[in-house]
Amino acid sequence: MNGSQLPPLLPPSASTISGELDLLFAYITAVSLFFTVAIAIGLGVLAFLYRRKAGDPIPKQIHGNTALELVWTGIPVLIVLSFFFWGTDLFFRMRTPPADPLEIFVVGKQWMWKIQHQEGPREINELHMPVGQPVKLTMTSEDVIHSFSVPAFRVKQDVLPGRYTTMWFEATKTGTYHLFCTEYCGTEHAGMMGRIIVMEPNEYQAWLGGGGGESLTAAGERLFSQLGCATCHGDQAGARGPALAGLYGTDVQLGTGGAVTADEAYLRESITEPAAKVVAGYDVIMPTFLGQVSEEGILQLIAYIRSLGTTTEPSEPAATTVEEADSE
Ligand code: CUA
Repeated sequence: MNGSQLPPLLPPSASTISGELDLLFAYITAVSLFFTVAIAIGLGVLAFLYRRKAGDPIPKQIHGNTALELVWTGIPVLIVLSFFFWGTDLFFRMRTPPADPLEIFVVGKQWMWKIQHQEGPREINELHMPVGQPVKLTMTSEDVIHSFSVPAFRVKQDVLPGRYTTMWFEATKTGTYHLFCTEYCGTEHAGMMGRIIVMEPNEYQAWLGGGGGESLTAAGERLFSQLGCATCHGDQAGARGPALAGLYGTDVQLGTGGAVTADEAYLRESITEPAAKVVAGYDVIMPTFLGQVSEEGILQLIAYIRSLGTTTEPSEPAATTVEEADSE
C-alpha cells in the first residue's frame, strides 16, 4: 500500500456472510442518511419559505389529516420491518452452524488465546483453518470475560468463564486476518490479539500432520484414567456412576425428574458441579473436579466422552480425514 492511500473503510471481506452483512449495513446506513438529509433540508427550506413576513396575518390553522398520518406512519413501519426481517434472517444463519463443521476449541485467558484442534495441534494467538469449510468454535475462559472477534469474517462472540459459547464461520479466501479481544479484560486487553490463518484444505491437512502431539480424544482418555474416572464410570453393571459410552447427545433422566441433553455444557457442569443435575438412580457421591482440571483438560475429557459414541454420528470422523489427505 502506498502512503497516499486512505485506510480502507471496512476490513477485508473473507467469509460467507461478510458480503451480505456489509450490504445490510450499507442499506441501513443509506436509508438513515437519506431521511436525515431529506428532513434537514425540508426543515431549512420550509422554515425559510414560510417565515413570518412583516404584515402577514395569522394563517389558517390545520387540525390534522388522517391520510397523511397513515402514510408517514405506514412507510417508516415497512422500512423498519425490512431491517428487522433481513437482520433476523441473517442473524439466525450466523448463529446456526451447518451440519458437519470442523470443530476447534478455544480457551481465553489474560491475555492470550489458546486454541486446540481435534487432531492434536495446539496454538497460542494463532488459528490455522481451511478455506471453504465451516468451522465451529467452542469457547470458554479461564478468568474473566473476553470476546473473540474476527473483523474480516464479521463475527464476534463473548467468551465467558464457567460456560461454553459457540460461533461458526466459513472463510472464502485464503490469507491472514486479525483476531481481536473485544471485551475489556484488564491491563493488556489491547495486546490480546492474534492471527487467523486461512489455508487451502490440503495445506491445512499438512499443517495438522506436522503439528504432532496426541489428539484431543487421546489426551482426554489419558486424563480420564489419571483422574480415576473409570473407577465409578466403568461400563460394568452396578457401577457407582452412570456409564458414559453412547451418552453424548442423548437425553438423560434426572433424579429430580425431567431430562437434560448430554451436550458439552451438561458434561462440563457434571465435571465441575456434579451435584447440579444427578442422573436418576445414582447417589450424589462424585466430588467436584473444579480447580483440579484445567479448562483445556475439561475440553479433552468431553472430547473423549464424545468419542465413546454419540446418537447422531456413528463414528468419530476426525482421524480419517488426516489419513485421506496423506494417501493422495
Ligand atoms: Cu481479553 Cu480483552
